Amino acid sequence: MDLASGLLLGLGGYLLIVTVLHFLFPESHLDWSNINLENIAMPEGFVWGVATASHQIEGDNTNNWTQFEQREGKEQSGKACDHWNLWAKDHELLSELGVNSYRFSIEWSRIEPVQGEWNEAAIEVYSQMIDSLIAKGIEPMITLHHFSHPVWFEDLGGFYNRENIVHFQNYCKKLFPYFSSRVRKWCTVNEPDVFSIMGYHMGMFPPGQRSPIKAIRVMKNVMIAHGEVYHELKQMSPDSYIGLAKNVTIFDPYRRWNLLHWLTSFALNYIWNGAIISALKKGRMYGVSVKQVKNSADFIGLNYYTHVLTSPFLPQTTEIDLPSRNHETVTEFGYPMYAEGLDRASKWLSKLNLPIEITENGVADKEDNLRPKHLKRHLWMIAKLIQEGIDIKSYYHWSLMDNFEWAEGYSMRFGLYHVDYETQTRTLRASGKAYQSIIKQHQNN
Ligand code: FCB
Repeated sequence: MDLASGLLLGLGGYLLIVTVLHFLFPESHLDWSNINLENIAMPEGFVWGVATASHQIEGDNTNNWTQFEQREGKEQSGKACDHWNLWAKDHELLSELGVNSYRFSIEWSRIEPVQGEWNEAAIEVYSQMIDSLIAKGIEPMITLHHFSHPVWFEDLGGFYNRENIVHFQNYCKKLFPYFSSRVRKWCTVNEPDVFSIMGYHMGMFPPGQRSPIKAIRVMKNVMIAHGEVYHELKQMSPDSYIGLAKNVTIFDPYRRWNLLHWLTSFALNYIWNGAIISALKKGRMYGVSVKQVKNSADFIGLNYYTHVLTSPFLPQTTEIDLPSRNHETVTEFGYPMYAEGLDRASKWLSKLNLPIEITENGVADKEDNLRPKHLKRHLWMIAKLIQEGIDIKSYYHWSLMDNFEWAEGYSMRFGLYHVDYETQTRTLRASGKAYQSIIKQHQNN
């Protein structure tokens, strides 16, 4: 074969591979102008919720995050929404919205501020919160670890050291019996993927490290921690409904004709999503056994925000805008609004044969220009998925109110309620009113 035919053959092969990939892994985009977003019909019994996390709203915490905020000279979480004092009023906001479930997290650093010392007063406050929700007809869903933990745990190396997992187990086992007769729904951990990659690879969460190898080790250990805790809690209360919240970010090749972009997307999809699905399904991730993780969930929580367009040169910080398609709207966080990805993420997770709870979905949007549409597109997508037979039980909007958005501090506003941090006034946004009226329509049906 001469050089010219060799080159031609090579090019033909390349094009064939890229074309096959293109059809095997389509990146769906809907023509939203033809879709009636006022027509969202959820089945009876669908659960309407909102979500928050302790460190983002409570204020005056002392944990790995406050330690990191100070050490790195970041914006301080400080008083946040002062929810620790204002929670009863915030529960009234939940009633005003009309939600029938509320996902929030318990701050381990309040429960066990010093290793082995339990703060009964803090447990009592959470207990009152639970009673207040139940009295309002709002079902609590509790997250046991949402990115924050005690300083002593961090100083021991946190989830980086496998022998530390037992401390997390002790905290969970201590806390659970106080609430298990009143609370059925539990998330062990929030987003093992975001927690480990942001903290150990991107350096933007505590402990601020930059090593992909460490990130993978932490993700694996957090999954093991989840598995251990799941089995222990189920033994204590078999009727409890326990899972974890998984962030599914879909990685799509930026240039669909570029094989390198495809390869990056495959690698990232596996590291971020595939490995965790494999852990839950097969008890293996990253080529090693995590047998306690196999079948360790009664449901899978899906936190869905966006898709990321990949190339070998992805930004290593969230402060740089990610690439997006021309027709996509870019949100304030710098990533595109892509409700179609919720369809793909849910179908992907449905391989686990577990009920799906949408444990988070929302958008940073200070002026509330985009949020009403964002909310309706995603709800419309859920209704469609349910009609197609995907077992989605609930939707928890992120978030009830503006709050401390981790590495981005107070600049990103995700709330259905606007928060004035000076006066701690909460004001319902137009998107909040839209959510309220969608919920009401369904309750009247
Ligand atoms: C998720 C986190 C949540 C919130 C949203 C915007 O990754 O779980 O706490 O910060 O992003």
